[in-house]
Formats: sequence, structure tokens, C-alpha cells
Amino acid sequence: MQLIDGKAIADQVKQEIAAEVAEIVAKGGKQPHLAVIIVGHDGGSETYVASKVKSCQQVGFKSTHLAFEDTITEVELLAEVEKLNNNPDVDGFIVQLPLPKHINEEKVIEAIDYRKDVDGFHPINVGRTSIGLPSFVSATPAGIMELIKRYKIETSGKHCVVIGRSNIVGKPISGLMIQKGYPGDATVTVCHSRTKNLQEICLQADIIIAAIGVPNFVKGSMVKDGAVVIDVGTTRVPSTETKSGFRLCGDVDFKEVSPKCSYITPVPGGVGPMTIVSLLKNTLLAGKKEIFK
Ligand code: GUN
Repeated sequence: MQLIDGKAIADQVKQEIAAEVAEIVAKGGKQPHLAVIIVGHDGGSETYVASKVKSCQQVGFKSTHLAFEDTITEVELLAEVEKLNNNPDVDGFIVQLPLPKHINEEKVIEAIDYRKDVDGFHPINVGRTSIGLPSFVSATPAGIMELIKRYKIETSGKHCVVIGRSNIVGKPISGLMIQKGYPGDATVTVCHSRTKNLQEICLQADIIIAAIGVPNFVKGSMVKDGAVVIDVGTTRVPSTETKSGFRLCGDVDFKEVSPKCSYITPVPGGVGPMTIVSLLKNTLLAGKKEIFK
């Protein structure tokens, strides 16, 4: 069993991005600039956004952190989005989700200029990704593809079972895994909460991508010997062993499953660290105007 070290790969990719930014700036080019909007005080979101801003600094990006109270109206938030759309210094920006209930997330996402949508959530980017056109691919699926590539994991003709059908992971990763080329060319089955013979399907998988959001959902009895297991789960569960009082728990029962795997991602330290790196990569592409002129 080989552990897929997402932290190490993320550090490596960050160094590559930093080197590229240094080169751009040395040649008199523009420092890539990411803006992040956060609304309210959700603990998870605040931690995540702080980490995104810190990562920008590490690779030499400019970053802008815009924090609003959850009393902001939808109209006011849409006006903030429009300001960023029209700010030529901002190459890309994201609106951290979830948003308070009185704000329609779809409306906000659709208001983002797709050429600055480094989260890859805008329907134009989602659609372009699904038909294989250049696009901003959302962070988690892009991070998974990068891990598969860097570990040279074979995907052609492999049976990839995706557990979960969310818009931000399950749907895009299944679309990417069936695409022509590498990583891709897989036979993909997407399972979800209504799937009947889940264990039987999982037992046929060469690659399992678990993104269902249920801690320890994938058991040893669901995994065949030699499978590759990618765990996207990051549920916060109470813990007496950490300062924060919680720890992250994956969708895979690591103790049971890991001895059977050829490769497996741990939680934390697997897919998680790659998501911010994907956002940085998209911001670099946005800065270089590489996807949309
Ligand atoms: N909330 C959880 N993950 C994400 C993400 O990747 N982007 C945004 N905008 N919000 C999130």
C-alpha cells in the first residue's frame, strides 16, 4: 500500500507556481491577484479562506480579502461581485460558500464573470469542462486529477466508481475520468444515496473516489485487493485530542480499507491540501489569460 501524500505534492506544486510567478514578475509582468469574498462567520469557511489568503502570499500572488457580515443583502453582494468583475487588477475571485440562507448561491455564482471564476463553479466553466474545452476546473476534482497524474496511476480502461453526485465533486470528477486522454479513459460508475447494490459495484472498482460526506462510509468489505482509493471526505467530528476540539474524518474507514489498497489518500493530508493548490493554479492561469483571452 502506498500513501498518496497530498501535502507533499501540494508543497511541490506551490513551489512550481512560486517559481513561475517570480519569473513573470522579474520580466515586468503582473503579479496574479486573487480576491476572496466571505460572508458571515462560519468557522470552517473562515479557516479555509485564511488558508487561501496565506497560500497566495506563499506563492507571491496579490490577494484581497473581502469580509461582509451576514446582514449583507443579495443586491449588495451582487454589487460587490460586479465591482470585482470590473476591476482590471483582479485576475480571479471566489465567493466562499455556503452563503447565508437569504442569498441565492446560484444567482451569485452566475453573476461572476466566467473569465474570473477561478472556482470553476460558473455554468459556463462547468459546461466547458464537461465537453473537454479549456476551462477553470473546480478545485477538488482538479486536485484529484493532479494527484493521479503525479503518482502516475493508470486510469485507461479502469473501472472508476465515484460515490457521491455533488455538483462540486461527484459530477465533475466523473466527467473528467471518462474524458479522452490521461488521466481519464476510465469506465465510470456514479453511485449515490439511492444506489441499490453499492457494495457489489464498489467491489468491481479499480479506483474508488469517495465523495459522499459520510464519515467512514467505505468499509474494507467494499474494496477489492489492489484498488486505488481517493477519499474526498472532510467531515468535522468532535475530538478530545485536538486543540480545536474537532478532527477531520474521511469517507473511508482507513484502518479497514488501507491494507487492501495499492494507493490511498489519507484524511487529512490527501485531497484536502490539493484543493487550495488547484485554486492557485487557476489564478495563475487567469493572470496569464491562458484559458480566456
Ligand atoms: N466552500 C467549500 N469549498 C469551497 C470552494 O472550493 N470554493 C468556495 N467558493 N466555497 C467553498
